[in-house]
Amino acid sequence: MIGVFDSGFGGLSVLDAIAQLLPRADLCYLADTAHVPYGNKPDDFITGRVLAIGQHLAAQGCDLIVVACNTATTTAIQALRDHLQGIPIVGIEPGVKPAAQASQTRHIAVLATEATAKSRRLAHLIATHAAHVRVDVVPCPGWATHVETLRPFTGEFRAEVAARIRPLLAAGVDRIVLGCTHYAFLKPIIQPLLEKHVELVDVAEAVARQVVRLGGEHAALKGHGGRGVLILQATARPERLQVALPMLGLTTLAERSVPAQLVRP
Ligand code: DGL
Repeated sequence: MIGVFDSGFGGLSVLDAIAQLLPRADLCYLADTAHVPYGNKPDDFITGRVLAIGQHLAAQGCDLIVVACNTATTTAIQALRDHLQGIPIVGIEPGVKPAAQASQTRHIAVLATEATAKSRRLAHLIATHAAHVRVDVVPCPGWATHVETLRPFTGEFRAEVAARIRPLLAAGVDRIVLGCTHYAFLKPIIQPLLEKHVELVDVAEAVARQVVRLGGEHAALKGHGGRGVLILQATARPERLQVALPMLGLTTLAERSVPAQLVRP
C-alpha cells in the first residue's frame, strides 16, 4: 500500500496524479487537519508531525510513503528517511528546475508557504538549478488555509491572488511554480490571469512518475491485493476529507474511497 500525506487537502492533487498512473494501487491518504497549516509553524513542530505520521503509515503496512507537501518535504524529509530506513520516501519540491529550463524570459516565480519560501532547501534548489535565471520567491500566507475551508473563492480572495500575480507578469515572469500542493486547487483563479506564453508549473505528475520508478506498482499490489482501495484518514473532522474530494473535482478518487477515519498519530 502507498501512504500519502499532507497537512490537509493539498496533497490530494498529488494523490490524484498517483491514482491516475496506478489505477489499481491501494492507497492511504492522511490529512493532518488538526495541525493545518504547516506553512507558518516552526521547523521542529513540522518535523515532529512528519515523523509521527510516517511512523503511523509504516505501522499500517505502507511500503512506500509520499510526502505530498512541499513544506514538510523541505523541512523534514531527511529526518523521515533517517527514521524509516528501508521504506522508500518520495517528497515534493517546487518545480524550479523545469521552470528555469523552460523559461524564455529567464525570469520565473515560485509561490510557496512562508516556511518553504524562507527555507535553505529552496535557496539551494534555486542555486543549483536556476542560477542562470531570475527567481522571485513569493510567500503566500493564508492561501492554503483558504483551500482548506472548501468555500467558493470570494471576490476579496481573488483580488488578493491577482495582486500577487500581476506584478510578476508585469516584471516579465513566464513560468510560475506552484510551490505548495494546495495551490493546484487555485489554478481556476490563477490561470485566467495569465497571458498565453505564461505557464503554471505543477510537479504532481512528476512525483507520481517517481513513485512508479521507486517501485510504487509493487507496493500498491500488496496490502489490499491491488484492488484500488483508497483509505482516507484525518487527524480532525475526517468527514470533511470525504466531502473535499468531490468539491475539489476529484470524483474518481471519491468513488474509490472508503469512509474516512479519525486517527491520532
Ligand atoms: N500543502 C503544503 C505544501 O505543499 C502545506 C500547506 C500548509 O499546510 O501550509 O507546502
